[in-house]
Amino acid sequence: MTLREIFTRDEIAKRVQELGREIPSHYAREKVLGICVLKGAFVFFADLGRSLEIDMEIDFVRLSSYQDGTASSGEIAVKCDLESDVWDKNVLVVEDIVDTGLSLYYFSRMLRSRGAGSVRICALIDKHERRTLPVDVDFCGFRVQKGFLVGYGLDMAQKYRNLPGIYAIDPPEEKAADA
Ligand code: IMP
Ligand code: MG
Repeated sequence: MTLREIFTRDEIAKRVQELGREIPSHYAREKVLGICVLKGAFVFFADLGRSLEIDMEIDFVRLSSYQDGTASSGEIAVKCDLESDVWDKNVLVVEDIVDTGLSLYYFSRMLRSRGAGSVRICALIDKHERRTLPVDVDFCGFRVQKGFLVGYGLDMAQKYRNLPGIYAIDPPEEKAADA
């Protein structure tokens, strides 16, 4: 198994600054509650938050849809809930990757049922082609078609989150069969 860098630290920083300029124009000086979806979004959230010149409160949620490894368990649970009341607030959900859409489909519904005034999604990576449930990413760092990614907060079985760039995990090369 090898790690292949697909977005460097500098490329990510540049994109985060661009998002920092794009997002405030959608809020007309309203207050925003930024929600960091743990654990994967923690690095992105810290960088993005500091690039946003808006009136922002922050909160954290931990959802789980994936077991340790690379396959979806097909279920979502709130492992650690928000502290804030979202009623009437402009919520900006900050996620690492939107893949099948399972996590954010249910989480967005939950936020709306709790009375959020608006719900927008900012994802570092949108794996749009893999979507099985309708989730629109309002602000997207990078679109990626396939592959399993690690680094900049993203993990594989809790490893690699502290890498500064984003890497694709390539499977081990097949050994040639014996003649
Ligand atoms: P979804 O519920 O299928 O959209 O999956 C979203 C969650 O799965 C993300 O928040 C990630 O935590 C995790 N995930 C999906 N793809 C990857 C990946 O390539 N690397 C690391 N985590 C991933
Ligand atoms: Mg995640």
